[in-house]
Amino acid sequence: MPRAASTARNRARLMHKIRYALRHPHRVAPYLRRAGRDLWLRARHRDHVAYYRAVMASDTARSPEGAVGSRSHDRWLALGEMQFRYLRERHGLRPEHRMLDIGCGNLRAGWRFIEYLEPGHYYGIDISPDILIHAKGTVATYGLQHKLPYLTLTKDLRLEFLPDAHFDVVHAHSVFSHSPIEVIEECLAHVGRVLRPGGFFDFTFDRTEGAEHQVLREDFYYRTETLTALAARHGLHARFMADWEELPHGQSKIRVTLPPDAAPGTPDPAGDRAAAARG
Ligand SMILES: C[S@@+](CC[C@H](N)C(=O)[O-])C[C@H]1O[C@@H](n2cnc3c(N)ncnc32)[C@H](O)[C@@H]1O
Repeated sequence: MPRAASTARNRARLMHKIRYALRHPHRVAPYLRRAGRDLWLRARHRDHVAYYRAVMASDTARSPEGAVGSRSHDRWLALGEMQFRYLRERHGLRPEHRMLDIGCGNLRAGWRFIEYLEPGHYYGIDISPDILIHAKGTVATYGLQHKLPYLTLTKDLRLEFLPDAHFDVVHAHSVFSHSPIEVIEECLAHVGRVLRPGGFFDFTFDRTEGAEHQVLREDFYYRTETLTALAARHGLHARFMADWEELPHGQSKIRVTLPPDAAPGTPDPAGDRAAAARG
């Protein structure tokens, strides 16, 4: 499907749902099951991260590869390879770089980064203990124990346990597509502190050119300008990655960098104010 057509669509609208159901009648029953499960999980977990952690627990129990969005093992391999090759072949990733992989999942791309980077240079974090258990399994499956990757559970994206100006590459693939704006803002408020000067933070998102919307609190659609303006509010420069659009992937990508004159590990007072306001 051409991306221009998909970015015009509002999946939260009733008319879209009816048309979709008529075109794909076999998907109606699974959708209703998912909607019922999500309603139940939302009633039990008011906070988004706790809710999404429960979604991941449920999805991972069924299939860890399905839980990170891959319908088959071949798709899991291909999606990981696409992420890896994009950074290594087009954007200069080198073995000595240090990488933070936010929402690393079961290491669909992570195992390739771990294999390529020097020992101890890959740091994966995730909100889901269930998927992190499978991430450890992936390390063992690919015989990467000697690379000593860090795999850490997190409950938020304040990143306070990580050092200043440490990472050359921060990466979040298919994470903000599942995140409300306050989670994205929390990340943008704090990521600048851990980025090395000259480093970058790449994230994918579900792009809309119409009204921003969400489906089942699982999938969130944003306009590019919303996210680039949010980055700017936290003193970061953000740009749309047009070369990612050439690849066969439904999401778009934004790259965030520090302004050229930023001192290493500069705290973000706007981020602290936003966090204080949220309590
Ligand atoms: C669709 S999967 C993608 C996993 C991995 N990036 C990949 O491409 O295979 C999304 C992952 O992000 C994690 N996640 C969702 N929200 C998160 C958050 N706020 N902070 C950290 N991880 C998050 C989920 O638990 C899940 O493992």
